[in-house]
Amino acid sequence: MFTRFRRKRLNPILRDLVQETRLSIHDFIYPLFVKYGEGIKTEVASMPGVYQMSVDEIIKECTELKALGIYAVILFGIPKIKDSVGSDAMCDHGIIASAIKAIKATHPDMFIVTDLCFCEYTDHGHCGVLDLVHHTVHNDITLDNLARQAVVHAKAGVDMIAPSGMMDGMITAIRKGLDSAGFENLPIMSYSTKFASAYYGPFRDIAESSPSFGDRKSYQMNPANRNEAIMESLEDEKEGADILMVKPALAYLDIVRDIKNHSRLPLAVYNVSGEYAMLKMAAKAGVIDYERVMMETLLGFKRAGADIIITYHAKEAARILNA
Ligand code: PBG
Ligand code: ZN
Repeated sequence: MFTRFRRKRLNPILRDLVQETRLSIHDFIYPLFVKYGEGIKTEVASMPGVYQMSVDEIIKECTELKALGIYAVILFGIPKIKDSVGSDAMCDHGIIASAIKAIKATHPDMFIVTDLCFCEYTDHGHCGVLDLVHHTVHNDITLDNLARQAVVHAKAGVDMIAPSGMMDGMITAIRKGLDSAGFENLPIMSYSTKFASAYYGPFRDIAESSPSFGDRKSYQMNPANRNEAIMESLEDEKEGADILMVKPALAYLDIVRDIKNHSRLPLAVYNVSGEYAMLKMAAKAGVIDYERVMMETLLGFKRAGADIIITYHAKEAARILNA
């Protein structure tokens, strides 16, 4: 006696009927990088198809995204002036605040998420205020600034805040800041389990956010740790996060499943820059069927337990899903 699994694989319609996991354009959040200026659309060498754009170009991009059925974006800002605390990020006329207002004016139906961090805004490239004695980021002073930055985004009209700095207590601090400014209905999607990963390499080119000294290992997680990865996300749930996240995605699918099994909150994955670049470069070299590998990868995230996928592939995947 044995089981004939192949019985359900013979007919393509039956194959579809018994398919357990499905991708949808509603799963995607598309990253956008906004820069001061006009008519700017600069492709980054390490990430073909991904651009730094001025606000006017982003507004055109949103029209294209909506035509594809993508209504959710995550915004990253590249300021003109960087300083030790990242002032541009806490200014009502800073790059992100003005971008949110401009996009919303033309596209009120676009769902705008903002990455909430300081590494793009500080002259040292770290994710908060420096603690010069300990050569790291000062946790609790950074918390005050994160709350301030969140209220700036909220006042500009953002739809969801996504803090990515891995400071302890960041969700408590941001929630408190938002609530006391009257934004108790603004959701927080926490980068709750974020590893210190070499897969962010290309992102730091496009966001111009490489640390000028050292690395991020004193705040981002050690890739070797599984128990800590679960605890980090559960802590953010306790502090009031509405959505959790694992980042990067591809090398951490065990963590995605672990967190899915430990929390009932929606879970996002960030399919990061290095993961995207690897597929693009392999395609360029002619060694993979790019579209099939891409769809298989995205499906893998969902099967592992992701409800939301932040991905640079969103437009390409949408074209395939819409076909
Ligand atoms: C900022 C931030 C980073 C990414 C998202 N938000 C970079 C970092 O932590 O160094 C990485 C995204 C990607 O690689 O695509 N803290
Ligand atoms: Zn950062």
